[in-house]
Amino acid sequence: MLERCKESCGLCGDSPAIGADGTGSLDPRAIGNVVLNSGHAMPLVGFGTAGLGDMTATATKWALQAGYRLVDTAQAPEWYREDLVGEAIRAFLASGGATREELFITSKLHPRDHGAERAKAMLESSLTNLGVDYLDLFLLHYPACWGTLCGGVEPQGTWRDSWRALEELQRAGKVRSIGVSNFDVNELRELAEWARVEPAVVQRNSDIFSADKEARQLCESKRWQYEAYSSLGSQWLMRGHRENPVLTHADVKRIARKKGKSPAQVVLRWAIQHGQIVIPRSSNRARIAENLDVAGWTLGDDDMFALDALDGHPPFVQ
Ligand SMILES: NC(=O)c1ccc[n+]([C@@H]2O[C@H](COP(=O)([O-])OP(=O)(O)OC[C@H]3O[C@@H](n4cnc5c(N)ncnc54)[C@H](OP(=O)(O)O)[C@@H]3O)[C@@H](O)[C@H]2O)c1
Repeated sequence: MLERCKESCGLCGDSPAIGADGTGSLDPRAIGNVVLNSGHAMPLVGFGTAGLGDMTATATKWALQAGYRLVDTAQAPEWYREDLVGEAIRAFLASGGATREELFITSKLHPRDHGAERAKAMLESSLTNLGVDYLDLFLLHYPACWGTLCGGVEPQGTWRDSWRALEELQRAGKVRSIGVSNFDVNELRELAEWARVEPAVVQRNSDIFSADKEARQLCESKRWQYEAYSSLGSQWLMRGHRENPVLTHADVKRIARKKGKSPAQVVLRWAIQHGQIVIPRSSNRARIAENLDVAGWTLGDDDMFALDALDGHPPFVQ
């Protein structure tokens, strides 16, 4: 598994030129890429921007300066500020920090906007917010509305109509790769039978306690790249845990001490060695830099097995 990852992801790189305060930068080439089934390269580590609120532009700027080239956002105003991600990207491109080609920008269609024509119109709104003329990756955020997410709005179509629109947008060069998020295994199987263009990326929740093996295996068998969200465990806080059980687990802390790394770096490294792309989020400049520094070292089989054994065994909610 590690060998496969080393070969296909080209993990390499020397120690970072990053200060303890998170200033400075890592060479983005040291972070490694995967080549998607669309033929486009996607960085192994990206910056997640959910829940950053007014901090979004500043934190995204820090991430770009630290060497992140993949930025994950979405149209859903409930969690994301796509406009502020765009502000940071515009400023970084204008400062000569990178070219547009060097960045990998992901956004996601809100489920209230399912439907062929609506999906195409919403892609234009993302391009405007982000100040770019194409997206690297456009995902269907959810297969359908749930709870109060769509505020009583009846979507004009289903995820199948939106998928056809994404296929057209890709053909037109408006998006380079397309994919889905939060589709369950049955929905992924249906998509596989139904799609004219198969998804390049599937984004789902995965962490050491909830490793999402079945979906990951399906993705691997289809050559769909699996992208994990909330690898650092923040979903457990929404399930009633008072403190993050991923970053505080004794095995994670023990491995971190042994390797001279942080708990966050250990769980990100575990995910990468399982072939996942990761998109950690932080509002803290030093932690933003720390989360990128996960190449150039590896977890051995014993550490991987110890972390694998935690799947399905989250601590009890206190
Ligand atoms: N497709 C979807 O439905 C979906 C759902 C959820 C998330 N996502 C994407 O995935 C990204 C990541 O997931 P997430 O935002 O849920 O959370 P996450 O990355 O699992 O965790 C973020 C939390 O971890 C803390 N943290 C970050 N780095 C740390 C470090 N090195 N040491 C200790 N604590 C650290 C952050 O606090 P500080 O800010 O204080 O550092 C924050 O509270 C999102 O931002 C979003 O782009 C997608």
